[in-house]
Amino acid sequence: MERLEKLFELSGPDMEKIVESFILEMERGLAGEKSSLKMIPTYVRMPTGKEKGKFIAIDLGGTTFRVLELTLKGDRKIGRTGIMKFVLEKKYVTGSAELFFDFIADNVNIFLRKYKLTDTSTLDLGFTFSFPIRQTGIASGTLICWTKDFNISGVTGNDVVKLMREAFRRRGIKNIDIAALVNDTVGTLAAKSYEEPDCDLGVIIGTGTNACYPEKSRGRMVINIEWGNFNKLASTPYDRQLDEESDNPGQQMLEKMVSGMYLGRIAGLVLKVEGFKTEHMSAIEGDMTDDLRVTGRLLGRLGIVKSSLKERRMFKKVCGIVSCRAARISASCIAAIIRRMDPHLSGTHTVAVDGSVFEKHPTFSQNMENALKEIFSRKASRIRLALTKDGSGKGAAIIAAVAGKYEK
Ligand code: GLC
Repeated sequence: MERLEKLFELSGPDMEKIVESFILEMERGLAGEKSSLKMIPTYVRMPTGKEKGKFIAIDLGGTTFRVLELTLKGDRKIGRTGIMKFVLEKKYVTGSAELFFDFIADNVNIFLRKYKLTDTSTLDLGFTFSFPIRQTGIASGTLICWTKDFNISGVTGNDVVKLMREAFRRRGIKNIDIAALVNDTVGTLAAKSYEEPDCDLGVIIGTGTNACYPEKSRGRMVINIEWGNFNKLASTPYDRQLDEESDNPGQQMLEKMVSGMYLGRIAGLVLKVEGFKTEHMSAIEGDMTDDLRVTGRLLGRLGIVKSSLKERRMFKKVCGIVSCRAARISASCIAAIIRRMDPHLSGTHTVAVDGSVFEKHPTFSQNMENALKEIFSRKASRIRLALTKDGSGKGAAIIAAVAGKYEK
């Protein structure tokens, strides 16, 4: 156990090193030099809080996707929202582009019917598509590569807005105009900063992980960092095994140490248990019973019957080691971005965070806050991590509003 702790440990000086190398990679990416950080310009400006009107959004990028409708009141307030969630079965995320986009369009139709929006005048739609996209404008961009085990043929290198519009046409949807294409981090940032002006960082720690921020040297245009691909972290033999067995070896190295898609797999490799998931980690680490009976029952379901208390404690310990490293890596990267925006930490910064790991894991957010305290000491109180639920979809609608205003 001690050996394992050492292997996964991320000390104060280790975090400081991550901060420095992350800033360097950000700068290289911005300068167009070789870097593991893509630093993608998004064409998105920060909202003012005065945007108004009724909008639709599609939020797509994990195992479920959402369609929503919302009203922006123009005074930093978001009015009534209607939302529907749909599950994306495996056949849709590993099949053809046409099958996939037609399925999305069919569900948009179901949504429009439910909310009686089929015969309205044109509605602007914000399209959240949470993969690395080379943006060519506010409402156009081509897919660079798939992440998070998505593998739909005929999309890489193509404009996803065009593909979506074609599916709308095939499915007879005429009153929807795709006004903005956004990443989930960008949506999350927009949603929080619509309500709170000191919010200047959007982070997702869910199935995948990533962040974005407004870059001063680009007139405060929001930059999608694609931090999941950061590759300057020390890895353990378990990380290397996971990477080798993955669909995209050598890529998304940070994502493979931090996000919900992989955390459970790492712990599973250490513990030699198949089918171990991040949800299991959350349940075990949140087990506060004195005999760890929740853990015992869960292990039973995973085929480990009659575990001893010692074994259950060991499981809990290993999960804690793996998730704590993930939280400290995330905090170090946040620290790097804040240091680049505000070198002396003289202002306050609200960080909009969404994603299942941040929201549901019992100690993740606390471990991140502790790490930020280690990095910034007392000044860490100027940084607030704010859960921004469903921000990616709501934010897309806000950005559609911003985009509409510029065009007009
Ligand atoms: C993956 C995607 C990225 C997204 C993140 C969180 O890293 O490449 O675009 O923001 O997952 O969903």
